[in-house]
Amino acid sequence: MRFFLDTADLDEIREAASWGVVAGVTTNPSLYARIGGKLADFPEHIQRICKLVDGPVSAEATGVTRDDIIAEGHELAKLAPNVVVKVPTTVEGLAATKTLSAEGVNVNMTLCFSVPQALLAARAGARYISPFVGRFDDISEDGIAALTDVVSAIENYKFDHPVEIIAASLRSANHVTQAALIGADIATVPFGVLKKLVSHPLTDRGLEMFEADWQKVVNAQ
Ligand code: E4P
Repeated sequence: MRFFLDTADLDEIREAASWGVVAGVTTNPSLYARIGGKLADFPEHIQRICKLVDGPVSAEATGVTRDDIIAEGHELAKLAPNVVVKVPTTVEGLAATKTLSAEGVNVNMTLCFSVPQALLAARAGARYISPFVGRFDDISEDGIAALTDVVSAIENYKFDHPVEIIAASLRSANHVTQAALIGADIATVPFGVLKKLVSHPLTDRGLEMFEADWQKVVNAQ
């Protein structure tokens, strides 16, 4: 499983990239708003992210109609070769995905919550599909079970283009563990979750033990 960073924050991307673990980035309007992003600066901001990351960078189209999504997709795709246009899984989104993917623009179909939605996204030409886990949990449904179903269903079929599943809306190390066990291709995680993935109490305890033992060696000189 590869890791994408789910953020619009350049410092977080720089830091996580320095760990050698970031294979891509996903952004959305909420994440851009969270860093105080301004509409006029959005294209330049996506370009900055694309320069920092050696991998796909999903930038969300905010239009609702197919024509608007396609027009936005064209603008986004011009920003950098690694831009992926993020499109919602709706009828208009499917139609826009069909057009954009036929033109060679990579699309990430987002806000996917079911097997039929995922299969339709793949048939429309989506290069990536993002089933959301945490938002299912938010409504007391089982997000991991829904992700499992999507991964299994997509694996059942051959498509005439590569299709990868991005486990999205992941909120915990357990979500990431389950996504890996299911065989999701990619996990997109906020920086806070990524930091938690590195930590384990026994690692910290092991370091404390080494330090104490090393001090004994030093004191014995
Ligand atoms: C990524 O592509 C999604 O937009 C993101 O993972 C959604 O996460 P959230 O449900 O925590 O907003």
